Amino acid sequence: MAIELRSGFKYGTVLSIAVVLFAYWFRLPRSVLDERLDAVLSSLLRAERKVGINDVARPRVAVGFGGCVDIIVDGVTLLNAVGLQPAGRPLHHDYVENAEQLAQSFAYFFAPGAASERFVLNDTLFSQLVEASRELPGNRWSIGGNAPVMASRMAGEGCSVLLGGSFSTDFNDVLSQHITVAGNTVEEPDIHLILEYPAGATWGQYTSRRANRYIIHSDDHNPYLDSMEEFEKRLQTFKPDLLVVGGLQMMDNFPFKQGQREALLSHLARMLSSAAPQTSVHFEMASFVDEDLLWDLLRFVFPHADSLGMNEQELPNLLSLFRGTNVTVLSDPNPRVATVLDQMRELYRLVNRRQQAAGAGRPLSRLHVHTLAFQAIIVTRGSQWKNTMSATAKASLTANRHVCGSADIDPSKARLLMDESFSVSRREGSQRIPLQETRPVSCWLEDDYEICVAPVLVCTEVYQTAGGGDNISAAGLVLQI
Ligand SMILES: *[C@@H]1O[C@H](CO)[C@@H](O)[C@H](O)[C@H]1NC(C)=O
Ligand SMILES: *[C@@H]1O[C@H](CO)[C@@H](O)[C@H](O)[C@H]1NC(C)=O
Ligand SMILES: *[C@@H]1O[C@H](CO)[C@@H](O)[C@H](O)[C@H]1NC(C)=O
Repeated sequence: MAIELRSGFKYGTVLSIAVVLFAYWFRLPRSVLDERLDAVLSSLLRAERKVGINDVARPRVAVGFGGCVDIIVDGVTLLNAVGLQPAGRPLHHDYVENAEQLAQSFAYFFAPGAASERFVLNDTLFSQLVEASRELPGNRWSIGGNAPVMASRMAGEGCSVLLGGSFSTDFNDVLSQHITVAGNTVEEPDIHLILEYPAGATWGQYTSRRANRYIIHSDDHNPYLDSMEEFEKRLQTFKPDLLVVGGLQMMDNFPFKQGQREALLSHLARMLSSAAPQTSVHFEMASFVDEDLLWDLLRFVFPHADSLGMNEQELPNLLSLFRGTNVTVLSDPNPRVATVLDQMRELYRLVNRRQQAAGAGRPLSRLHVHTLAFQAIIVTRGSQWKNTMSATAKASLTANRHVCGSADIDPSKARLLMDESFSVSRREGSQRIPLQETRPVSCWLEDDYEICVAPVLVCTEVYQTAGGGDNISAAGLVLQI
């Protein structure tokens, strides 16, 4: 593979890296580590600042669908409080019907520390858990759902936002003044229960390998995309630069009536296909296990998306669908850069090949994958997406800010998990790229696209993991429109 390397800010340097350094820096003395971290942080901040957002002519972004109120609790504390014994063995369930399944399903994702979200098909159980969470010391409430989180991040970054979702009036009151809501007003908002856990938490015989969350919900409004009609009407006059679709995982394993889901998604497809050519469309993936729904997404949503965002679980999950194998529900939560880049190249190629064969819709010109240790973005050369290097840096900084719960990054609460250099592919003889602390974002050209990779300053004092992907994706997008 011939690669033209762009490291940091400028194009051009073709690096041939002969020496691979095996000195992982956790073996280096602490002071050297701190210096590296400080250098990476200041370089990422500089990269982020390189591009400003025009907050006079605010970029216009429309984001759908849905939203909820999140109750965030410590997962293990909650399960102990309701007297749920650790499951004898971890087991995956597509949805949760009773307490035993909840214990098995939680154990399945908790031990490896993999992000997951499941539907609870038992109102009694779900209400009991919500009631227990209300009583739990240290619980927090916040605005949740992919669309409102992305909308808030974008409004916070200087965009003017149209948000498609049905909310209660007090919910509307806490949204930014730069967000206009299109949807119905509801009395009882949907509640999502976020079971957070830090790295090294224990539950019976299980110990979590990394910080993450397990989300459960039992929504009444969100699966029906009930704000879609109002949102669609407003779109015509709002004329967004970017249209973002997320929150469709609320349809996963939801007991729809025959044909109902397909009707909703084909309505969505019509809406997306009527977007103006100058409006870019982004779809944010999520935790899906319902294979039929995934196929419907490929059929109704992907053909209209210029851009996709997802995490390290969702990427192999999608690929498994293309490969015709069983849908993966659990993948390595700490994948290597080379593995993720290979998967990204494959997905980019497969989606575009499908698009070409269909002869309609939009080609995929952007793919952003967020992982714990790094951010990676692929952008088609000559496409509408700008500032990929700065966007990757911003995504990486946002990961720390979100998880640590602070806009100011404290290097003493951060750690670099990425090695001193990374291989661009698992193929034998692939090039290695050193991680330069003064130019931590590596960008290079391949085929018809550019790839940028940035290390994440992984937060070591976790405030919250839920909503991270949405904040990160949104932060990356705002610099690219
Ligand atoms: C639903 O949950 C309740 C409370 O945990 C339980 O008593 C009941 O058996 C569950 N229903 C089903 C169908 O599993
Ligand atoms: C795929 O899933 C089916 C049904 O759950 C199972 O019977 C089959 O063994 C699985 N195949 C593979 C390759 O895992
Ligand atoms: C992520 O989004 C939520 C909801 O808008 C917000 O409360 C939180 O502060 C955001 N995190 C960052 C780093 O902006």
